[in-house]
Amino acid sequence: MTMDENQQRAWRALGLGPVWDSRAGQVQREEQASPPGLSSSERSAGADRAVLPADQDGSGSVAVAELTAGQGEVSAMGWAALESSVAGCQACSLSQGRTQTVFGVGNRNADWMFIGEAPGAEEDARGEPFVGQAGRLLDNMFAAIGLSRSKDVFIANVLKCRPPHNRDPLPAEVGSCEPFLARQIALVDPRIIVVMGRFAAQTLLRTDASISSLRGRVHGFALGERTVPVVVTYHPAYLLRTPSDKGKSWSDLCLARALAAQAS
Ligand code: URA
Repeated sequence: MTMDENQQRAWRALGLGPVWDSRAGQVQREEQASPPGLSSSERSAGADRAVLPADQDGSGSVAVAELTAGQGEVSAMGWAALESSVAGCQACSLSQGRTQTVFGVGNRNADWMFIGEAPGAEEDARGEPFVGQAGRLLDNMFAAIGLSRSKDVFIANVLKCRPPHNRDPLPAEVGSCEPFLARQIALVDPRIIVVMGRFAAQTLLRTDASISSLRGRVHGFALGERTVPVVVTYHPAYLLRTPSDKGKSWSDLCLARALAAQAS
């Protein structure tokens, strides 16, 4: 894939100076004067990950996770019923502190699904996931791999209501919300899932492993007869605090892009 101007702009906004692109196992580099680029080890990491890990290309064993679909009607709902069920949900105390629920946004038939943790203040106010500073970085990440928020991806959070003071979600809150996310995944029926941040990764993959041990490899999510590949990456809010890890995130996106291409 050759980068167009939009992608190059996004690339620069990500703080990734030199443009790296993979084509048939080869790496192309265009030097750019500013902003400062990645270290050579970060760049190599990004380039390597465009190639699927050898034993995880769909033929090897991948641990497959699934979410609780819920006992009630949620698991049979269509989009309209699901959206109104989320909007009216009072299953946990987060409903008392919210301005509104944050259902999810994007193309409901997208090949790509991105999953974050929970709405923050701006998302609670606007009713849309990832609209704050972290969301702007996420949009740049999409652009860097040629995706658009409205056309190519569906974005959802594990929790649909904002936890007070952005604290970590509690297990009971996750338990209440889980059937909604499970149904969203089933309805979108994505080719690839990217989970952002430790919390979303641990929830979706049912593990307490660290994010550094989860990223860089392919996980699976059971969807009927199919196993959807799952890639774990850092949360955009973390990347804003730790820009030196943006190169690893780029590796993850390259891995996801290779998996999506393989699946379609
Ligand atoms: N962080 C998230 O995990 N989700 C959002 O929607 C916003 C910030």
